[in-house]
Amino acid sequence: MTRMTVNGQPVHYRMDPRTPLLWALRDASNLTGTKYGCGIGVCGACTVHIDGEAVRSCQVTLAEAEDADPSDDEIDAAITNLCRCGTYPRIREAIRLAARVARGEERLAAAPPPGIDPEDAARNVEALAPPVADRNSDPGRIRED
Ligand code: FES
Repeated sequence: MTRMTVNGQPVHYRMDPRTPLLWALRDASNLTGTKYGCGIGVCGACTVHIDGEAVRSCQVTLAEAEDADPSDDEIDAAITNLCRCGTYPRIREAIRLAARVARGEERLAAAPPPGIDPEDAARNVEALAPPVADRNSDPGRIRED
């Protein structure tokens, strides 16, 4: 699902995010003023404004046009299930973080190392431990007792 604001209205497109914006506007939103001309970004018949910039909508996918700077109201509108878990502030912050990453303003750090030495960890995994000398555990050995 791709979310954006079109002509001041929040819109959720349930289309393949690779769909050209032109077809989402024309077919899903019935905004037929956006015309199909050449389909290769030359004629300008499909021009729309995204955040004040004129773009050829036949050359922009829904994913590329997605609103990468959602307001708190847009985030609240997008969180549709009601829950008593109390995690909404954290979910909102995660969405804001994702938006900053999408805009290239911030990078996600790799997960910190767990602080466990791989050799110590291997010693605690039974399957990786060296075999213990146990005469009864050798399947090729005939029991003598
Ligand atoms: S249809 Fe011609 S530029 Fe998009």
